[in-house]
Amino acid sequence: MDKLKEQILELTKQYYEEHHKPKAFEVGKDKVNYGGRFFDAQEMENLVSASLDFWLTNGEWTDRFEKGLANYLGVKYCAFCNSGSSANLLAFSALTSPLLKERALHAGDEVISVACGFPTTITPILQYGCVPVFVDMKLPEYNIDENKIEEAISPKTKAIMLAHTLGNPFNLKKIKELCEKYGLWLIEDNCDALGSMYEGKYTGTFGDIGTSSFYPPHHMTTGEGGAVYTNNPILYRAIKSMRDWGRDCWCDSGRDNTCGYRFTKQFGQLPLGYDHKYVYSHFGYNLKATDLQAAIGCAQLEKLPEIGKRRRENFERITNNLQGCEPYLTLPKAEENSDPCWFGYLIYVNEGYGLSRLELTKYLEDHLVQTRNLFAGNIIYHPCFDEIRDSDAYRVAGDLTVTDNIMNNAFWIGVYPGMTNEKIDYMTDMIKNYLKEKGY
Ligand SMILES: Cc1ncc(COP(=O)(O)O)c(C=O)c1O
Repeated sequence: MDKLKEQILELTKQYYEEHHKPKAFEVGKDKVNYGGRFFDAQEMENLVSASLDFWLTNGEWTDRFEKGLANYLGVKYCAFCNSGSSANLLAFSALTSPLLKERALHAGDEVISVACGFPTTITPILQYGCVPVFVDMKLPEYNIDENKIEEAISPKTKAIMLAHTLGNPFNLKKIKELCEKYGLWLIEDNCDALGSMYEGKYTGTFGDIGTSSFYPPHHMTTGEGGAVYTNNPILYRAIKSMRDWGRDCWCDSGRDNTCGYRFTKQFGQLPLGYDHKYVYSHFGYNLKATDLQAAIGCAQLEKLPEIGKRRRENFERITNNLQGCEPYLTLPKAEENSDPCWFGYLIYVNEGYGLSRLELTKYLEDHLVQTRNLFAGNIIYHPCFDEIRDSDAYRVAGDLTVTDNIMNNAFWIGVYPGMTNEKIDYMTDMIKNYLKEKGY
């Protein structure tokens, strides 16, 4: 390695030790965050190394990262992009590709999902003029109630697009069966579930397409970042094209004529031999990430086994600490046949005891324990629905009673790998203190 680069990387390591190495937790002074970056000097060294390469767009680090993630998950293809929301947009837009011929989605087609979750799982459905059909949830798994899906399916239904809520896999067995029976595409929003297993296989690899987010609190981070993965070569082609401006060409950034017929083909109604680099087979975007992000990701991939172990252990510790808090609180439950790599610990404040989610979360926040609601709760009640609320832009199948209950009564706390036993015990003590103050 270049001598100067070696020195810079050595100094970077020292900088990490001085400025970023985790410090001991001080009760009553330090906040217990729900999530955060889990990294060491290696991530910073990779980032600095990539910055010295100064490639600035996707390149060799991206290639390494995409292959590494595909290898970890056991899938054929992976495309790195700039966020989990972009990953969902790419996954959905790929289903509209003319490459899929009669199986391509069109405006007006219905897509089964839930109203309870992160908004950008369903946003692309609406953006393409398709119709999200909201099915109710089940507790305490906090996923779609798989027994209510079949009655929500209509002749217009073409796909199912769902997240594995906070790492807990939805019932993939039943949902895959329904997809096969009705010829539906399945997109797994795996943004909160990287490393979760269902029947011994990673979530995100059961459906036609899986997506990840690498925003800092997630299982692993690249700062901003996301990924789309699939085993289907046609979907992969559509995903890459949509990600890279909609182009037909698949040359990597800065490379020319990978296909070997750059100036020899007839495309659409263009003149013969029109430069393939500027031929567009989709109405795409530019959702690429950079090598700087991929370099961080390469170091993070190495940590995934440890991250998964710690998230599972932290979940167990919270569960053990909160024994005896039921019936006041309902604790989360893993989906049958699954081994979740939890993103967070969901707690449902039971009705009938004079307790409230608002009061409890305020109590925790006042005592420096960070809490989160289950994202949008029920997305239909949000201002973004104001203009379409009474339209047929979306459909509710049956009722959303459990969804509303989750919106009103559930919240979550962290299980991320930076969460030490001391922090966990402090969080659960605060929950128990609240119950004590309420007379329980
Ligand atoms: C389930 C789910 N999907 C998608 C996203 C969006 O990811 P990003 O923040 O990287 O856009 C999130 C974000 O946290 C999420 O929780």
